[in-house]
Amino acid sequence: MNSPDDEIKSIENLLSANGYLPNYNIAITVFLSLKLKKPILIEGPPGTGKTELSKAVGKALDRDFFRIQCYEGITFEQIVGEWNYQKQLLHLEMSRLKESSEDVFQNEFFIKRPLLSAFINNKPSVILIDEIDKADEEVESFLLQALGERQITVNDLGTFEMNNDLIVFLTSNSQRNLLDETKDRCLYLFIDYPSLEREIEIVTTLIPEAPQILVENVVKAIQQIRKMNLLKKPSIRATVDWVKTLITLKHDKLDDESFKDTVGVVLKNQDDKKKVEGHFLK
Ligand SMILES: Nc1ncnc2c1ncn2[C@@H]1O[C@H](COP(=O)(O)OP(=O)(O)O)[C@@H](O)[C@H]1O
Ligand SMILES: [Mg+2]
Repeated sequence: MNSPDDEIKSIENLLSANGYLPNYNIAITVFLSLKLKKPILIEGPPGTGKTELSKAVGKALDRDFFRIQCYEGITFEQIVGEWNYQKQLLHLEMSRLKESSEDVFQNEFFIKRPLLSAFINNKPSVILIDEIDKADEEVESFLLQALGERQITVNDLGTFEMNNDLIVFLTSNSQRNLLDETKDRCLYLFIDYPSLEREIEIVTTLIPEAPQILVENVVKAIQQIRKMNLLKKPSIRATVDWVKTLITLKHDKLDDESFKDTVGVVLKNQDDKKKVEGHFLK
């Protein structure tokens, strides 16, 4: 039996090998989720690796991956599944002609959506329920019930049991407060912007061909920009895009000229852009 420390280290290594560099807090939360069989609720600013973590866990543990992208008004039908009316009607007509069974509430007439597919999958799986804060509260409570009881009931069809030790990730950008019950049932993980050292590592992992000086210049600038009072702080994706832009334009470092030409890649708001230019370009 491996010690917890070894297992956490091995999760760190597996994730890194799959292009995701976790900090210790991320690795330990994934470890605990596997051991305690609890969902992980991830919050934090946009672009800090919340969505990506679940994909990386899926790859690292070689699991089937399912995803629900939440939005305002998303329904049970889109999460669990819905009846295929056309097929049902066709079956009714056919069975009348043939005078055979008229049962249209069968498995084959039910279109399965990600939650049900993940539940009944007979291989180890991961499901990402992305941006749960965008879904209505009723959907949130339904999901919790399903996850808590490890079963889903579909009217007229029956109850489905969870067929594998599904790992569940929920992410939220905190557009609304989640239900207490949700927080209560999940392990909580806050993913903040990475430290300077980690962000350098992340960018280097994602763009191995990037000159080290350039990566350092950009990450240092980004980290300073994030400390400013801006409407929208740059994400890790923005850092990566900035480095790629500079490489494409054949700049090997970040100086006043290349800064001015390219800072628009990371700042999508005119006021923010002016503030940052005022700060960096004297
Ligand atoms: N720890 C990390 N290791 C590797 N890449 C990361 C890491 N964190 C973030 N990224 C990169 O940042 C990008 C944005 O991450 P994403 O998961 O989409 O953000 P979020 O869901 O938090 O808005 C991804 O494309 C991913 O490649
Ligand atoms: Mg996301």
